[in-house]
Amino acid sequence: MITSTVLRPVDPAHFRAVMRHLPTGVVAICATDPVTGTPSGLVVGSFQSLSLEPALVTFSVTHTSTSWPKISRAQQFSVNLLAEDQQSVCGALSSKSEDKFASINWHESSYGSPHITGSLGWIDCRVEQEIVAGDHLIVIAAVQEMTASDGGDPLVFHGGQLGGFRQRLAA
Ligand SMILES: Cc1cc2nc3c(=O)[nH]c(=O)nc-3n(C[C@H](O)[C@H](O)[C@H](O)COP(=O)(O)O)c2cc1C
Repeated sequence: MITSTVLRPVDPAHFRAVMRHLPTGVVAICATDPVTGTPSGLVVGSFQSLSLEPALVTFSVTHTSTSWPKISRAQQFSVNLLAEDQQSVCGALSSKSEDKFASINWHESSYGSPHITGSLGWIDCRVEQEIVAGDHLIVIAAVQEMTASDGGDPLVFHGGQLGGFRQRLAA
């Protein structure tokens, strides 16, 4: 059993061991890099809505991300709410591959960002703030446009594993 003992400083492995009990949704943050004109993207589990009026969203991104600087300079990105059957999309976009989009079907939104086919929803956003917080940046963005698909189940990250919500309920 993992205890709730507070360690100072907190051991990163202990931090991960505790936080793995919290399930998160999985989204792909994507943009068209204005320098190369090619799509760039990464997966985050830290995405959430932040404010209703005005409509704001937030997520955190590690300082070591090589994709975020390309997305940040676009100032414009899409949030793709990944579906349970998009584990391969999650794998591609969380990799360090040179061409993450090689096996991904997508089209460009009216705001110029990639919308990945088969996602549960798409949110076009404009970057408002990037706040340094420890070894991550907190990104705050304004929602420009959002659409949901007709249905389907979300991709969930829990206990160090990717899976579906319903199969976990049944397990
Ligand atoms: C389920 C899941 C959740 C993740 N959540 C985050 C996150 O919230 N923030 C982050 O910076 N990276 C997160 N990552 C890691 C990035 O997707 C990815 O590994 C990394 O950004 C890829 O490298 P690049 O940015 O250099 O292309 C997550 C990965 C997975 C598989």
